[in-house]
Amino acid sequence: MCGIVGYVGPHPALGFLLEGLHRLEYRGYDSAGVALLDGGRIDVRRKTGRVSQVEELCRLDPPVGTTGIGHTRWATHGVPSDINAHPHTGGDGEVVLVHNGVIENYTSLRSQLISQGYTFHSATDTEVVAHLVAAQLKREIKLGGKASDPQTCLRAVETAVSQLKGTFGLAVLFRDAPGLLIAARLGSPLVIGVGKDEFFLASDASPLVGHTERVVYLKDHEIAVITAKDFEIVHRETGSQTPDVRILEQTSQDTELGEFEHYMLKEIFEQPQTVENALRGRLDEEEATARFGGLNLDPQMLRGIDRIILTACGTSWHAGLVGEYLIEEFARIPVEVEYASELRYRNPPLSDRTMIFAITQSGETADTLAAMRECKRKGHPTLAICNVVGSSIAREADGGIYLHAGPEIGVASTKAFTAQVTVLTLLALFLGRMRHLSYPAGKRIIGHLQAMPDNLRQALKCNEAVKKLAEKYYQAETFLYLGRLYNFPVALEGALKLKEISYIHAEGYPAAEMKHGPIALVDEETPSVFVVPKCNIYPKVISNMEEIKARRGPIIAIACDGDDKVAELADDVIYVPDVDEYLQPLVTAIPLQLLAYHVAKLRGCNVDRPRNLAKSVTVE
Ligand code: F6R
Repeated sequence: MCGIVGYVGPHPALGFLLEGLHRLEYRGYDSAGVALLDGGRIDVRRKTGRVSQVEELCRLDPPVGTTGIGHTRWATHGVPSDINAHPHTGGDGEVVLVHNGVIENYTSLRSQLISQGYTFHSATDTEVVAHLVAAQLKREIKLGGKASDPQTCLRAVETAVSQLKGTFGLAVLFRDAPGLLIAARLGSPLVIGVGKDEFFLASDASPLVGHTERVVYLKDHEIAVITAKDFEIVHRETGSQTPDVRILEQTSQDTELGEFEHYMLKEIFEQPQTVENALRGRLDEEEATARFGGLNLDPQMLRGIDRIILTACGTSWHAGLVGEYLIEEFARIPVEVEYASELRYRNPPLSDRTMIFAITQSGETADTLAAMRECKRKGHPTLAICNVVGSSIAREADGGIYLHAGPEIGVASTKAFTAQVTVLTLLALFLGRMRHLSYPAGKRIIGHLQAMPDNLRQALKCNEAVKKLAEKYYQAETFLYLGRLYNFPVALEGALKLKEISYIHAEGYPAAEMKHGPIALVDEETPSVFVVPKCNIYPKVISNMEEIKARRGPIIAIACDGDDKVAELADDVIYVPDVDEYLQPLVTAIPLQLLAYHVAKLRGCNVDRPRNLAKSVTVE
């Protein structure tokens, strides 16, 4: 939610700021803006809409300066408008800042500041922070500080943020402190890129790719004081910190579209590679098990686990449901899959032997982070299954498993789901082999997993057939998605993909549950998508299809290669390779992702930037 960039160095800042904002646009695209500091003058350009509109605004008369900040917004407080767009100015223009997060006590702070004579122009919570920093700066100057002194500015930011309740990632410029950028973090991510005589700042590492390989992830309660010469990190309680400089492994290719029209399509087609990457180095053929480097739990502890909670949101929650079936089947450990937004406020009984996994692509989802922290606070080992290296969840977990899926830029999650399911299969194998799963069974699972990249390549060949299907159905107003056992979470995921990018109402259900209510929706205009590959209750799913057919509902089936029986019943069939039941989600999700993609495209929707959504949900 919201993307922040910043630059301090010898070069004009505008190029990096705009390029960085383009790369962060997946985090929000309600409005965008930049502010550049040039010899005692701050030039702010901001506009409703996309980064390209700000770029246009800057084209004819570019703002100059070698220090700057930028922002792309996902609106929380105040509608998307020019006036609510960041950067926001504080005081009489002596402070300008951008913000990602939510200030929960902004109403009371706003009243206080108004009574002190500050004027508000926007409806945002951010403007409060800008005025607050300006007020603190005035105070520091009264106490003898100099407006141009970085330490005076630092103290102003420190005192201002100590009054904030909520979450923030902030980048602040001071009119009278040339070449200074201050960043502060609580709950919203910020990464500093360390260059040669220049520094970059961003909400995630993607804008830094191609500029520097050395990064420092700012931690909660830390404030960075950045100039072109140097930077210092100060913890609000413990003072100056030694920066933990890490090497960035991303390449610019990871974030380029290449031959594809949209990131979502690119990421769908990357999935065979995604599975390869998630498996790499983790299959132990000799022991017929999986191996993980970062679980950080000793074998005795792992063997003692008597319950697992998987917590996540959205697509990651759907992957968790597949994980539940896998772990219970292979390892016989009871698993519950909890919405993180519920778990964080619930108080379920957890024994000492309960292990918690947070599943997340971004590693920044506010609810997942809070649920994980709550479990950790109660003393339970919390682990993360996470894609983004160095993200908050990855760093705060006691251990975990990285997805290695590379940057996922399309707002609708596709390859992260596939990587999550692959990693959960490995985890089930690993836990299973510590318990009841036999050596031959472990070997079999490894063989099946090794064959999956090719099976996914095969599944992707359905693209043209799915495109035709989309042409037939794209005007429908409601879709049902139905599946059973391992394909029930896939049905949920298919429905989520369709609704989030095409804005068509879609419901996912266990196929048999459909007759307890949703069947009332069925008519000649309402397609039902059945995920019906061969499984041990295949005949039962066929009966569920008959029930829809009897009510004249159009049926789209996702079936195994060569399944003629389904073809007799369904109006349209998309075939995927016949794989073992527990691996079916990896192949059946593909046609559903493609269906959502083609339908959205035909309806003229912005596939990579669906309305009202953002990639990383860092607010509650
Ligand atoms: C759907 C989607 C969201 C995310 C959810 C969790 O396509 O992308 O539902 O899955 O916001 O995000 P992460 O996995 O980053 O925690």
